Amino acid sequence: MDMEDEQTMAKEINTIGVLTSGGDAPGMNAAIRAVVRQGLFRGKRMKGIKRGFAGLLNEEIVDMDAKSVSDTISRGGTILQTARCLEFVTAEGQEKGAGICEKHGIDAVVVIGGDGSFQGAQKLSSLGINTIGVPGTIDLDIACTDYTIGFDTAINTAMQAIDKVRDTSTSHERCSIIEVMGRGAGHIALWCGLANGAEEVLLPEKFDHDEQRLINQVKNARQLGKQHYIIINAEGIGDSQGMAKRIEEATGIETRATILGHMQRGGSPTCKDRVYATTMGAMAVDLLCEGQSNRVVAHSGGEFVDFDINEALGMHKDVNDFMYRISRSLV
Ligand code: ADP
Ligand code: F6P
Repeated sequence: MDMEDEQTMAKEINTIGVLTSGGDAPGMNAAIRAVVRQGLFRGKRMKGIKRGFAGLLNEEIVDMDAKSVSDTISRGGTILQTARCLEFVTAEGQEKGAGICEKHGIDAVVVIGGDGSFQGAQKLSSLGINTIGVPGTIDLDIACTDYTIGFDTAINTAMQAIDKVRDTSTSHERCSIIEVMGRGAGHIALWCGLANGAEEVLLPEKFDHDEQRLINQVKNARQLGKQHYIIINAEGIGDSQGMAKRIEEATGIETRATILGHMQRGGSPTCKDRVYATTMGAMAVDLLCEGQSNRVVAHSGGEFVDFDINEALGMHKDVNDFMYRISRSLV
């Protein structure tokens, strides 16, 4: 066999590990279940790595069989737990992690998480452990994919909570600022803005910090007879309490801030999150079985596809401009 044949020959995978990393997201359990069951179906040994890269460095590694993932598809959170791990950002931590995989006979790892976690996967791959990333974050802030595990559940949870705030806001004829998660991205805020028919959506990607305009809008709306004024504020802008105080002082209209917080990350995943997470988890295993590494599963152009992780991390995604424009024209 010449060198070229040897390099293009797929590395044989016998044991696959799976971990969840970064913030948890509803649907991660469905993805873990699919990885484990598809791996077993393909004749592989399966191992769960607890607490993300932190658990890998602490050798928190457990055997997984079909039963390990029974009764999990409808559960929020992640049965493997998740963590953020600074040690794994260092070259020493990454080498230690690859060594631990080798020690436990783990040839390949499915990493379920966001962009940060994919950087960890990329490093493991460069050290000879085949890796596939599966996009898991409620924030939808992974550029190569129009779907991330947990976003659909999170926006439905937030939408229902905002409906409730709207009821009391109307009764009291108040202005309400509702802050939703999303880290530096405004996708959750924008979707909730449209789903809840909010009067205003503030997105980190678009906000010009012109609070006077906001104050004028609140006053105008009251003059036009609007009984409430709902502002969806993205976490990336923050300062909802301060904004509420300033709007109340300037308009004389009672204003309250509600920060939805971690409730958006919990709960039973929606049908979409279960089905997409299941499909992506199974696809990650199939890619590994084909000898692929350093790839991330994505949903793009209406199809499930995969990208090289380096290419995926170099992509850029903005909020949808048309959706933003109609969030302002339909009030
Ligand atoms: P997310 O995966 O949701 O983007 P984080 O950015 O917190 O969440 O990343 C999750 C974990 O991925 C980090 O705690 C760290 O262990 C690992 N990670 C992040 N960046 C890198 C990097 N540059 N190299 C190696 N591992 C990384
Ligand atoms: O990435 C998911 C997310 O919930 C973000 O929306 C938010 O900024 C962050 O995680 C909160 O992280 P923590 O759970 O550490 O408070």
